[in-house]
Amino acid sequence: MEALRELRVGFIGAGRMAGAVARGILQAGEVQPVNIFASAPSNTNLDKFKSFGCRTTHCNLDVLKNCTLVFLSTKPHILPLVLQEVAPAVTPKHIVVSMAAGITLKTLEELLPAGTKVLRIMPNLPCVVQSGAIMLARGTCAGEPEAALLKRLLSNCGLCEEGPESYIDSHTGLSGSGVAYAYLFSEALAEGAVKMGMPAAMANKIAAQTLLGAARMILETGEHPAVLRSAVCTPGGTTIRALHELEKGALRATVMNAVEAATSWAREMGKR
Ligand SMILES: NC(=O)c1ccc[n+]([C@@H]2O[C@H](COP(=O)([O-])OP(=O)(O)OC[C@H]3O[C@@H](n4cnc5c(N)ncnc54)[C@H](OP(=O)(O)O)[C@@H]3O)[C@@H](O)[C@H]2O)c1
Repeated sequence: MEALRELRVGFIGAGRMAGAVARGILQAGEVQPVNIFASAPSNTNLDKFKSFGCRTTHCNLDVLKNCTLVFLSTKPHILPLVLQEVAPAVTPKHIVVSMAAGITLKTLEELLPAGTKVLRIMPNLPCVVQSGAIMLARGTCAGEPEAALLKRLLSNCGLCEEGPESYIDSHTGLSGSGVAYAYLFSEALAEGAVKMGMPAAMANKIAAQTLLGAARMILETGEHPAVLRSAVCTPGGTTIRALHELEKGALRATVMNAVEAATSWAREMGKR
């Protein structure tokens, strides 16, 4: 396997998610900025890559010519056209990684030359602050070495888990969209405190820190969230009264329904 110092990594599409992943890869320090190549039609986002010390182009084929591992990071509706354009330049040495929502491995493999090593990743927005959650799935010709290389590359973008492709849709419902549920919950927590008299700016900061701290405890202790929650509930105390209100509002069932709705829609998009 190519050492990471020599690995040339490309991004076709240089927007928000490509920038976040590139920043994570660079901060891990193993890939050299000059070995990262990004393409996009305009300079709007390429300037950010230039500021990282990466090389940029307006020609997608240049990325294929110069890189071994290539992220496909355009919006999903543009990807089929981009694949048509770049497919003739894809060779057996390439590893192609799509981050486009709703474009299946089967579609990617059909639009690329037979035998191409293809993988899918589904990142989420906090990759921007290197605290993302990424799901990875391999195509039929991508093996353990390609998955291992990708996981090593993404190690600084956040948590990276591998699973069958069907998990990508569940991950979208759980984590891709889940970020928005967390923001809504954070906002609601803060508004409760504002109602009780705390200034909004302070309440928003404390609500966010509360979510961060609670999440870190789940990950760092390895405990089931129910165990941690129960430890906060003094019998007859404040927390159990609040939890009773949340149960009356069916928070748990509502959140499960939300994950199901987003996952089902992600699945539906993959069939189109
Ligand atoms: N944002 C998220 O939270 C998130 C989460 C999971 C997955 N994703 C996936 O990540 C992908 C990128 O999303 P994003 O939010 O980063 O989008 P974005 O910020 O809109 O970036 C899209 C990029 O694609 C470029 N582009 C447009 N047409 C192109 C073409 N023909 N050839 C090459 N590049 C082209 C754009 O060029 P210009 O710079 O010239 O506009 C831009 O750099 C999507 O497929 C999305 O499903 C995003």
